[in-house]
Amino acid sequence: MNTTTPRSALAEKVARAPKAELHIHIEGSLEPELIFRLAERNGVRLAYESIDALRAAYAFTDLQSFLDIYYAGASVLLEEQDFYDMTMAYVERALADHVVHAEIFFDPQTHTERGVPIATAVAGIERALADAERRGLSSKLILCFLRHLSEDDALATFDAALPLFDQYSHRLIGVGLDSSEHGHPPSKFERVFAQARAKGLKLVAHAGEEGPPSYIYEALDLLKVDRVDHGVRSIEDPALVTRLADTRVALTVCPLSNLKLCVFDDLTKHTLKDLLDHGVAVTVNSDDPAYFGGYVNENYFATIDALKLTDAEVYTIIRNGFDASFVTPDERAALIAQLDAHWHAAPAR
Ligand code: HPA
Ligand code: ZN
Repeated sequence: MNTTTPRSALAEKVARAPKAELHIHIEGSLEPELIFRLAERNGVRLAYESIDALRAAYAFTDLQSFLDIYYAGASVLLEEQDFYDMTMAYVERALADHVVHAEIFFDPQTHTERGVPIATAVAGIERALADAERRGLSSKLILCFLRHLSEDDALATFDAALPLFDQYSHRLIGVGLDSSEHGHPPSKFERVFAQARAKGLKLVAHAGEEGPPSYIYEALDLLKVDRVDHGVRSIEDPALVTRLADTRVALTVCPLSNLKLCVFDDLTKHTLKDLLDHGVAVTVNSDDPAYFGGYVNENYFATIDALKLTDAEVYTIIRNGFDASFVTPDERAALIAQLDAHWHAAPAR
């Protein structure tokens, strides 16, 4: 959908509703134009001749085909200012979509591998998020381990990040697990997650995006996560769906990502509405918006259209985003009050 397509009254209402975004990889918000600008600034040579050639390569067949290009894009990030510029560009898009609270992932191992210290990445991201706070966007930051690397590598990354968890305790509040899912089950990272838990950090993990329901069980039982990222394959296991619904462990679902990575061949086949009907706390998020063709509002518009979601269902999804966010009870109450003021003032349907 583009901006010239007339939108339904419900889509218009959603567009302006205050929303949370709980699944966004900041490196996945790097638009091709910024990738080329940073490449030039830093003297990094890209394997693509032009912005158009890079964008033309965004035809993914599965998660790995995307990750290969995503890591190549992130290779232009070297200086603190690069991380600031990337994050500020996301902040502008999030504010335009009326996101009022974002919980943002970053992948330190992608950068340390190129000699960029974790502190450089965090300092640039933090400076932009502090600026965003003054403009009405609150946020948290979550450090993700790359699951295609070893647990020893994750443990070393965690050790190196320990001073940053203290220095940025207002922002850097959790750890996550991302990258290639097949063959890299959550059980591989049990020790590092135990250390993060002992430090009082919030825990999330990608599971059940491409991987089987058993990976979601492992994320819950072995890693003891507070939320599951994606989790859309949980629908294959009725006992798991019941458990997710009963415990209210939220799923951070990313519909356009699932479509672009061929998890579903059509958005009408997406499991989000089934999960919602079963009482699972699903949320809608953009994942890697520069690569998947839409920021958070576009994810809502496409999902509402494909799954024929009602006004009440969309309210529940937005509300789930605030309920599942890692904020204090007072902050949550204020965010929900903002949503309710908008939702009940705006015309229904
Ligand atoms: N899945 C796994 N790893 C990722 C993703 C994703 O959707 N986006 C960025 N890293
Ligand atoms: Zn993701």
